[in-house]
Amino acid sequence: MSDHFTHDLLRAALGERPFKFLPQTGSTQDIAREWALDDRDPAPPGAVVIAEEQTAGRGRQGRTWLAPPGSSIMLSAVLHPDLPPEHLLRCTMAAGLAVLEAVKPLLGDAVTLKWPNDIVIGRKKLCGVLSEASWIGAELGAVIVGIGLNVRTRFEGTEFPTPATSIDAELGYSVNRYDVLRALLARLDHWAARISDPVLFETWRTNLGTLGKPVTVHSGPPDSPSATFSGIAESVDETGALLVRLESGERQRILAADVSLAES
Ligand code: BTN
Repeated sequence: MSDHFTHDLLRAALGERPFKFLPQTGSTQDIAREWALDDRDPAPPGAVVIAEEQTAGRGRQGRTWLAPPGSSIMLSAVLHPDLPPEHLLRCTMAAGLAVLEAVKPLLGDAVTLKWPNDIVIGRKKLCGVLSEASWIGAELGAVIVGIGLNVRTRFEGTEFPTPATSIDAELGYSVNRYDVLRALLARLDHWAARISDPVLFETWRTNLGTLGKPVTVHSGPPDSPSATFSGIAESVDETGALLVRLESGERQRILAADVSLAES
């Protein structure tokens, strides 16, 4: 059965949820941000922007995000968290957990979180999360949480920079994207309602496959010569920062904004 996204089928699948669907757009992040900050018709709680194809999809650290139409779930959810700036990573935690819990019934415990915000199976990336805060002066207007989840994306023969996989590739059969989308948004509602609750941080920490493993941290912008160091990913603190024990015994606190990380 085709699971092509259309406005009418999304309306039927998502019920009362406010959403915008764009068969093709630059980046859902930009549409969601404009909607969140629209004076006359601001995005209500639970609002989400879904696209079938992006021409300027963004990933973390200035990377682009590419997915052929029909192959993935690409969405941006608008959150209005009441959080101090140092805890904004909780929006990313909420999104990562929502994806993890939506796909675990299909894929089992092999799927884990890779700090700070990838959903992976072993070393292969299944989903990425990009959180962008929108400020109105010094006030937080909204946080736009972007999710790119590979459902049947094929990576053979592509020059994808990190090893990647999709739900269908792991299962050996096709799942329905509407079912995955519904499950994902239900879990996102759950965690968005608990954004300040310690249980969010605890659940995120417990599901981080990165902890206890050797990691290599690349700091600096992607195209500049970057400082690289290795150590053991010891733990995370409540802001979401990774605490890495270096060989020297020194402990480094790593902020998600500053690094990319490879488990070695
Ligand atoms: C990453 O792992 O680098 C994050 C990728 C986030 C991709 C999603 S797709 C929907 C939303 N719109 C974008 O332009 N990016 C996010």
